[in-house]
Amino acid sequence: MMPWRDDAVFLLRSLSLRIFVAHFVVAQVVFARFAADKRMKILITGASGQIGTDLIRTLHRRGHTLVATDVREPEQLDDGVQWQELDVTERSHVSEVIAAAQPDAVFHLAAILSARGEANPQRTYEINQAGTYYVLESCREHGAGQVIFTSSIAAYGPGFGPGLPDPTPEEVALHPTTMYGVTKVGGELLCEYYHQRYGLDVRGVRFPGLISAELPGGGTSDYALFMYTEGIAKGYYEAFCRADTRIPLMYMPDGVRALIELCNAPRDQLSRCIYNLAAFSPDASEIADAVTRAVGDVTIEFAPDPVRQAILDSWPRTVDDHLARKEWGWKPTYDLESMTADLVPKIRELLAARS
Ligand SMILES: NC(=O)c1ccc[n+]([C@@H]2O[C@H](COP(=O)([O-])OP(=O)(O)OC[C@H]3O[C@@H](n4cnc5c(N)ncnc54)[C@H](O)[C@@H]3O)[C@@H](O)[C@H]2O)c1
Repeated sequence: MMPWRDDAVFLLRSLSLRIFVAHFVVAQVVFARFAADKRMKILITGASGQIGTDLIRTLHRRGHTLVATDVREPEQLDDGVQWQELDVTERSHVSEVIAAAQPDAVFHLAAILSARGEANPQRTYEINQAGTYYVLESCREHGAGQVIFTSSIAAYGPGFGPGLPDPTPEEVALHPTTMYGVTKVGGELLCEYYHQRYGLDVRGVRFPGLISAELPGGGTSDYALFMYTEGIAKGYYEAFCRADTRIPLMYMPDGVRALIELCNAPRDQLSRCIYNLAAFSPDASEIADAVTRAVGDVTIEFAPDPVRQAILDSWPRTVDDHLARKEWGWKPTYDLESMTADLVPKIRELLAARS
């Protein structure tokens, strides 16, 4: 064969190899996107709460089939979302509902939050701890594909040593001071047990305090949202914490996206069941300044409530979420300033609609 022909054949071969590789890469990206948007049947417990309200909207928009459950009916529910009253402490009903729904995934949100939980620790234990056990057990029994658990920075506590490292990683001794925190540690351990013992695909996050334009559910981080809502509605708010209180916070759209991204992550990329998540950790006076800059004439004062302040002081100031970032690509998009810019008009709308 002529040498120029050898060159031409070589060129053609390497060109077709490159075209093949390029097509393969494009196909992989398209497939990954398709897989990420795989339509699922999803059952949500505690669906009428702060997270459930936003999560349902997002999942519904993405085309999933949803069964929303709670002890109280949601204020509004998109057309096509199935509603089912369900108390997670009623074991046989939990089992019946999960058996009937045959969900690909269960987002287990039902809980009593930290501050409200201290008013009735006994009931908090039943709902948060026994309820989580019944949900996991029913999912095992009826072969649910996946369970997503929402733990909290309240799983941490001051402990007996030098205190929590800053930032705080997942693996430190957990000594929560609230019943809520105790049940989150217990829930995390149950998740790990069901994963190891039965191979149930359980995943979860330790959420920071979440902020959204929905009424919060009685958590100790609620002072942050109240600075916005009371600041806009009344021009004045007396926060129940010290001005230098610093805890991890997150804007709800990031929180909802995190749950969906964790749900879509390939299992073999996950080295653990429960992941820390972080976004921003302003102190309370920095939040007050952000509200004042965005809203104008607002006075925020600080009158620490000893019980809630003690809870806040027992939590990490910042958390280390490098495992979530490395293993399933978690990355927050909002900081305090961008959250404030997005949140203030939404709260104004919400308050106008309610007045
Ligand atoms: N909001 C936050 O800042 C935050 C932070 C960390 C973790 N979490 C966790 O996320 C989950 C959802 O939190 P949220 O902020 O939406 O709380 P929320 O209080 O707004 O909602 C919880 C929902 O659970 C429901 N519920 C209570 N008892 C129930 C029962 N016996 N059976 C069924 N449902 C019941 C309530 O009616 C409520 O709608 C919880 O597990 C919470 O611990 C929330």
